Amino acid sequence: MLGFSLSMWMQGIKVPLFVGSNLLHCCIVGGSGSGKSTWLLYFIYQIRKSIPCEFVICDFKRSGEFTGITNHYAEYEICIDEIRLFYEEFSEAPDGGNGITRILIIDEIAGLLNHLNMTKEGKKEADEIRMIMSSILMLGRSRKRFLILSMQRYSASVFPASSGSADNFMISVGLGKLSVDGRRGLFAGEHFEGEEDITFGMGKGLLLRDGYELCGLQVPRLDKQKLLFILQSMNR
Ligand SMILES: Nc1ncnc2c1ncn2[C@@H]1O[C@H](COP(=O)(O)OP(=O)(O)O)[C@@H](O)[C@H]1O
Ligand SMILES: [Mg+2]
Repeated sequence: MLGFSLSMWMQGIKVPLFVGSNLLHCCIVGGSGSGKSTWLLYFIYQIRKSIPCEFVICDFKRSGEFTGITNHYAEYEICIDEIRLFYEEFSEAPDGGNGITRILIIDEIAGLLNHLNMTKEGKKEADEIRMIMSSILMLGRSRKRFLILSMQRYSASVFPASSGSADNFMISVGLGKLSVDGRRGLFAGEHFEGEEDITFGMGKGLLLRDGYELCGLQVPRLDKQKLLFILQSMNR
């Protein structure tokens, strides 16, 4: 489950929004404080509850919000090593997968790429990461290997508009108020009825899923610390 229908929520009715367990490539965009990390923890919990899976988590900004959830974890520049390891395993994974779903989460991916782009050596690494992400997006589904990215603004630096790999996201979430450009990048020209009456903010946004039209998303009230604690105890 990804949350609830926002338009129904505003009428006092809780309608959950679901997604298939083989449709997990996900991009989440929202300004600082819009609830991305909280939603990510919630999403990790939902996935963990429903399928055998393993997470690899890259926390570029060293937020510490994801520590202890998985043994495959990295912060700051070390993220590159963890991404490479994920890709190695991915490259050897058989078609149809091997029974366990593996999911690479990169929190604040644009921050990581921009940071790498500051040096010549880093530029190469940024290109390598882009190549890895594109491969996972294009070939991951049949191997049950998925990519989840979070970023503050949807930016062309993550995926060149021409590459087409961004079309492979099966779930796009935009939390809080999105810029016009950010919205276009994530949801193209889509709108839904009643949207103009909604004030977007923390935990309130837009959701586009494979096979469904764009809709409003209400994230339930969550305690980030409690969620982290639950996920940590699931890892033991
Ligand atoms: N679903 C939610 N329910 C309750 N509080 C939330 C929720 N989402 C976010 N918050 C509050 O907003 C703060 C910022 O959320 P966070 O997920 O860290 O945002 P981001 O990662 O986008 O910067 C959290 O510390 C929490 O206090
Ligand atoms: Mg965050």
